[in-house]
Amino acid sequence: MKDVHGIISEFDEYQGHKIQKLSLTNANGVTLSLLTLGSTIYEIKVPSKKGTHNIVLNYYHSKDYLANPFYVCMAIGRTAGRIMNGQIVLDGQTTQLPQNEGTTTLHGGPTGFNSQIWRGKIISTAEGDAIEMSHLQKDDGYPGELQVKIIYTLSSDDIVGIKYNATSTADTVFNPTQHVYFNLGIDDTITRQVLKVNAAQIQELDNNKIPTGKQISVGHTPFDFQQPTSLGKAIAGMSDTAEKGFDDIFAVKPDDDNLIAKLVDPETDTSVGIESDRNGLVMFTANSFTKDEMNLIRTNGVGQPYEGIALEPQTLAKAGSARDFSAIELKKGEEKSYIIKYHLRYEK
Ligand code: GAL
Repeated sequence: MKDVHGIISEFDEYQGHKIQKLSLTNANGVTLSLLTLGSTIYEIKVPSKKGTHNIVLNYYHSKDYLANPFYVCMAIGRTAGRIMNGQIVLDGQTTQLPQNEGTTTLHGGPTGFNSQIWRGKIISTAEGDAIEMSHLQKDDGYPGELQVKIIYTLSSDDIVGIKYNATSTADTVFNPTQHVYFNLGIDDTITRQVLKVNAAQIQELDNNKIPTGKQISVGHTPFDFQQPTSLGKAIAGMSDTAEKGFDDIFAVKPDDDNLIAKLVDPETDTSVGIESDRNGLVMFTANSFTKDEMNLIRTNGVGQPYEGIALEPQTLAKAGSARDFSAIELKKGEEKSYIIKYHLRYEK
């Protein structure tokens, strides 16, 4: 018998388009929901002593997702992170991309994956239903038309799977991720949660937060999360920086459990282990979340710093040069796939 069931419902309207919500529920009562706007993870609900409990940030309406620069739980592409001067160089040829953060192109530019309405359907797999989001990404300034498919699964043992798959009509770049902000607990912020990141180094960033190509050892700094570390204490260690928290790129490797990172809420005994085939993880502790323009459900229509933590697996620029795009190149006609898995545990 199939253990995972999918349903589609109407969520709301965005700029005259109907936005759908697609949900998967397994026999343990875990639910994963997506919105067709931005291929956004809307909810991950886990059983709790009080019923169920949503462990990701979300908003009341579709329009709230694009009302601020925080990309809450949305699909990111074609390229996660920052591209200096919006210029990519492939085989000696420079392409100027649209810039959406001063001179920088951030998270795929102004018409990235997150701003698109995706085609969502429930598909049937051996283990049960899954969600397929597909989209033809074009006219965004990047070379080639990119046919993208993202398959979201939920297993009977509580693993959320995300698989990105793309092909392009010209040589291009592809470095997608999902900008999920977790808050596993019942508090308004993540400061009482504990994080492990299997990274001995972070990337040095310039004043525009663009990697310089140098790596910095995390030893004896607040960036050392190699053992489970209190986020509140680590954030306090960043109080004399402009950011007052983390917005950094970690060079990660899978640990003995095959995870690159693990976030735990000791109070509710809830955790998420992150599995990924990528060598980078951006950690953003929502330092600049504002009160206004953030109609978040968790805090009844306002936002606040540290309300969630974004953990975004992605591919790093080649060591030694942030201007070398070969690590994320997708050749014309080639097919590339990446996976992210969230291993969920919750109070029983
Ligand atoms: C992160 C990025 C942050 C911020 C955030 C979205 O990936 O590193 O600087 O832009 O996305 O608000």
